[in-house]
Amino acid sequence: MARPGDQGGGWERSIAEALAAGQPVADTRFDRLFGPALQRLAALHFTPVAVALEAAAWLTAGGADEVADLGAGAGKLCLVGAASTGARFTGIEQRPGLVQVARDAARRMGLDRAQFVQGDLRTVPLHRYRAFYVYDPFSEPGAEPDEWLDPCPPTVDREADVARLLARLAAAPAGTRAAIFCGLGGPTPPGYRLVETIAVNERGDALECWER
Ligand SMILES: C[S@@+](CC[C@H](N)C(=O)[O-])C[C@H]1O[C@@H](n2cnc3c(N)ncnc32)[C@H](O)[C@@H]1O
Repeated sequence: MARPGDQGGGWERSIAEALAAGQPVADTRFDRLFGPALQRLAALHFTPVAVALEAAAWLTAGGADEVADLGAGAGKLCLVGAASTGARFTGIEQRPGLVQVARDAARRMGLDRAQFVQGDLRTVPLHRYRAFYVYDPFSEPGAEPDEWLDPCPPTVDREADVARLLARLAAAPAGTRAAIFCGLGGPTPPGYRLVETIAVNERGDALECWER
């Protein structure tokens, strides 16, 4: 991982350039951006590059010029989206350590249009976004205290949190797009129609593309 002050410019920028050129980038190569500890967790908890490309393309094809990733982790969706589309991607993440990793990766990749905000997706203002990405923010793994760099309050009531998130999506104007990876455990966004479901692997994981 690059040291503070290191502007990157080598292999990190070549990843952004490859994505911009439509060339394939392996997850093992991309996840090196996050350093060894997170690299091991990325396969389980972060969006695969191929899925991020599909999601970013869908979310911006409706005309949105800014996409919010609700529970951004180390920023993988935003980094891939900013590299592969012309839109701005904002990651909202509660864990300050992950926000720092994401900002550092964006700087090293030379991606000004990927930005990261530390905050709670249940309460941060969402009015300005017309496109949302969601990957399983409320099912915390049986995490070791340091597994995600810093501890955070466990989800107390997953059902209530999902309902709250769906109500926030429902309050968005017509035309808003939402890409949901691996579902939200049953409920669907009220007022949205399912436009497409993209199967992404043999386990049955899917990317759902919704429009309000
Ligand atoms: C499964 S990871 C997905 C990361 C990223 N979206 C990706 O696809 O690579 C879910 C993330 O949601 C974050 N999260 C969970 N609850 C949150 C909340 N209330 N506000 C902000 N972030 C939250 C977790 O800290 C975790 O980083």
